[in-house]
Amino acid sequence: MVKVGIEKINLYIPEYYIDIKKLAEKRLVDPNKYLVGIGQEKMSIIPSSQDIISMASNAAINMIDDEDRKLIDQVIFATESGIDFSKSAATVVHDILKINSFASSFEIKQACYSTTAAIKIAVNYIKQNPGRKVLVLSSDISKYGANTPGEVTQGAGAIAMLISENCEILEINSKFIFATKNAYDFWRPNDCKYPIVDGKLSIKLYIELFNLCFESFIDKYQNFDEISSMIFHLPFSKMRDKALQSLDDKYIDFKTKHLSEITSKILCKNIGNTYTGSLYLSLLSLLYYGNINEHEKIALFSYGSGAVGELFTMNLSADYKEKIRKLEIDKRLNSRKEVSIEDYESKYFDNMLKLKDNSRVKLSKIIDSIRYYEIDEP
Ligand code: HMG
Repeated sequence: MVKVGIEKINLYIPEYYIDIKKLAEKRLVDPNKYLVGIGQEKMSIIPSSQDIISMASNAAINMIDDEDRKLIDQVIFATESGIDFSKSAATVVHDILKINSFASSFEIKQACYSTTAAIKIAVNYIKQNPGRKVLVLSSDISKYGANTPGEVTQGAGAIAMLISENCEILEINSKFIFATKNAYDFWRPNDCKYPIVDGKLSIKLYIELFNLCFESFIDKYQNFDEISSMIFHLPFSKMRDKALQSLDDKYIDFKTKHLSEITSKILCKNIGNTYTGSLYLSLLSLLYYGNINEHEKIALFSYGSGAVGELFTMNLSADYKEKIRKLEIDKRLNSRKEVSIEDYESKYFDNMLKLKDNSRVKLSKIIDSIRYYEIDEP
C-alpha cells in the first residue's frame, strides 16, 4: 500500500497587523470580549501589493526546488476569495513558480473546507501515480467589513503543501468521516463584496457537524485513544474550546485532555481567520509551538460553511521537528509592523493600503483586467 503525506509545508504571514485591543477601544467594546470571549489578539493585514495569487506564490516559492518543479503533476488552488469566475489562480501561480508545462492547474471551492478536499484529491492522485507530486495551495483574505460582528475575526494568509510519497512531515491516513448539510450560515453571492453571515447559526452548525463526525468516527473506528492531539478549523481561537466543550460528557477524559492543549491556537490568535488554510495554520501552530512526539497521531476537524465537515487523522514522521523549526515562524510573526486603526478603516477595505512590501512575489499592476507580478530572484 502506497503511503502518501506532506513532504514539505510553508506559510505566508502578511508583514502587517492591527492590534485587536485597539480595535475594541475604537469600537467601544470591552477588549476582553475580543481578547478572551473570541480569543483574538492580532489581525493580519495585507498591503495593496498582495493578493491571493502573490500570497500563495510567496508561501511556495522558497519551499519547492527544481526537482519538485519537474515532478509536480497538479497545482490545486483552494480559496474562497477567488478573483475570476473562469481562469483559476492556479494557472498564474503555475507560471510564477515555473512548474513544468505538463502539470494540470485548477481552483476548488467549498468555503473553508476546500484545502482538505484538495489534499484528498492529491492523495488519491499520488496513490495512482507513485513517484509524482501535487502542490496544494490555500490562500484567502477574510474581510467582513468595519463595525460588523465578524470584523474581529478577519485575517489573511496562505499555506503551501507538497503532497507525495515522501511523508517527511506526516502521513495522511485513510480513516475519515465526511458530512454535508445544506445550510445558509455563511455565504458570499457573486455580487457581494463581503460574506453574508449568521454568526450564531454558523457556530451551531460547526458544532453539529463536529459532533456528527466525532460520533461516527468512533462508531466506525472504535475509539480515539490513540490520538495525541486534536486540531480544528479555527475561524477564531475560542472555537476550539467551544467544539471540545460541546462533546457529550461520556467523552470527559478526551475533553479534559484536549482542552488543556493551547499551542494549536497561537497562530490563529495572531493572524486571524485564514479561511480554507485555517486548519493547516492550526497544524503548523501545534507542530511549531507544541511538544508533540515524533510518530504520534493527530486528528483534524475540517469545516466549511454551507456546510461540509470532515474528521480525519495524520501520523507524524520521524524528523518532522527539525523541518518545522526551520520555518522560523516566531521570527516572522515578531518582525511584523503595526498599522493604525485609522489607516485600516480608511484604506484596507478598498485595497488602498500602500506599504513597503518585502515579499518575493508582489502584484505590480492590473491592466485590462490582467494581473502582473514582480518576482524577486534570490
Ligand atoms: P458576537 O455575536 O458579537 O459575539 O460575535 P458574542 O456576543 O457571541 O460574544 C462572543 C463571546 O465573548 C461570548 O462567549 C461572550 O460571552 C463573550 P461565548 O458565550 O460564545 O462563550 N464576551 C466576553 N468575554 C469576556 N469579557 C467580556 C465579554 N463580552 C462578551 N467583556 C461571532 C461573535 C463569532 C458570532 C462573530 O464574530 C461572527 O459572526 N464571526 C463570523 C462567523 C464565524 O466565525 N463563525 C464561526 C463558525 S463558522 C466557520 O468556522 C466558517 C468560516 O470560517 C467561513 C467558511 O467556512 O468559509 C467563518
